[in-house]
Amino acid sequence: MKKIPIMLTVLGLATCSGFALAEADATRGAATAAVCMACHQADGSGMNIPGGESWPRLAGLDAAYISKQLHDYKSGERSSASMMPFVSMLDDQKIADVAAYYAGLPATKGKGSGSADEATLKRGQQLAERGDWSRYVVSCKSCHGPGNQGAGAVFPGIAGQHAGYIKTQLQAWKAGTRKNDTQDLMGSIARRLSDDDIHAVAAWLASQSASAN
Ligand code: HEC
Ligand code: HEC
Repeated sequence: MKKIPIMLTVLGLATCSGFALAEADATRGAATAAVCMACHQADGSGMNIPGGESWPRLAGLDAAYISKQLHDYKSGERSSASMMPFVSMLDDQKIADVAAYYAGLPATKGKGSGSADEATLKRGQQLAERGDWSRYVVSCKSCHGPGNQGAGAVFPGIAGQHAGYIKTQLQAWKAGTRKNDTQDLMGSIARRLSDDDIHAVAAWLASQSASAN
């Protein structure tokens, strides 16, 4: 059971490095979000773009997670040519506000699992819920929480996210181009997943509900 100490360490680090911010205001955040809608859509649902760069759903993600990602893009910890021009316009207050705004929107459905066959979805479910010990892959839900719907500020909900986006993130970790996670937690998992596994787990997660209600 090495899992628990690792999780505690992650949570501890996240608390220590937390950003000291003025109180977030979702109403101000809505105004800031006007420039985000072209991609993330008015309802925060984003878009699954097969074969292209999918826009993640932001609606219902944890506010502290969203704000960490925006700070990471801004500092260059996480890189995205699409996001860079937009985060560079945001100061700390705007980041907190826009994060509160998206966190408060009701989660929408994940897309992109439609074409996956039964066997693929089954493999995806196995990885997400039970892991695969023959490849030293722990289940996604051991960190991402019950139903993979997220656990606190550190572990984002991945159920109900678009398959295309989940896939590109796992591939980015595998290739070492996304490395803004604490202690390489995701990198060490993504490197053990084959391309078929990535496809399978992304398809299954996209077909699941993002929230318990
Ligand atoms: C031109 C399209 C576009 C616009 C406009 C845009 N984004 Fe994004 N956004 C993306 C893409 C593409 C990604 C995924 C990039 C990657 O692979 O890291 C992303 C990722 C994100 C993420 C990370 C989500 C996660 O689950 O980790 C957040 C948060 C985010 N955007 C917020 C915003 C906000 C806030 C704005 C407006 C101020 C904005 N975006 C404007 C395209 C856009
Ligand atoms: C040991 C803990 C751990 C396990 C197990 C784990 N993850 Fe993660 N995952 C994380 C952390 C921490 C982050 C947030 C990284 C950051 O702050 O940018 C993350 C982020 C992600 C993201 C990015 C979400 C977004 O909105 O950008 C995806 C996709 C993801 N994980 C998929 C998976 C899948 C699929 C599995 C199972 C095969 C899995 N994870 C297992 C810790 C874990």
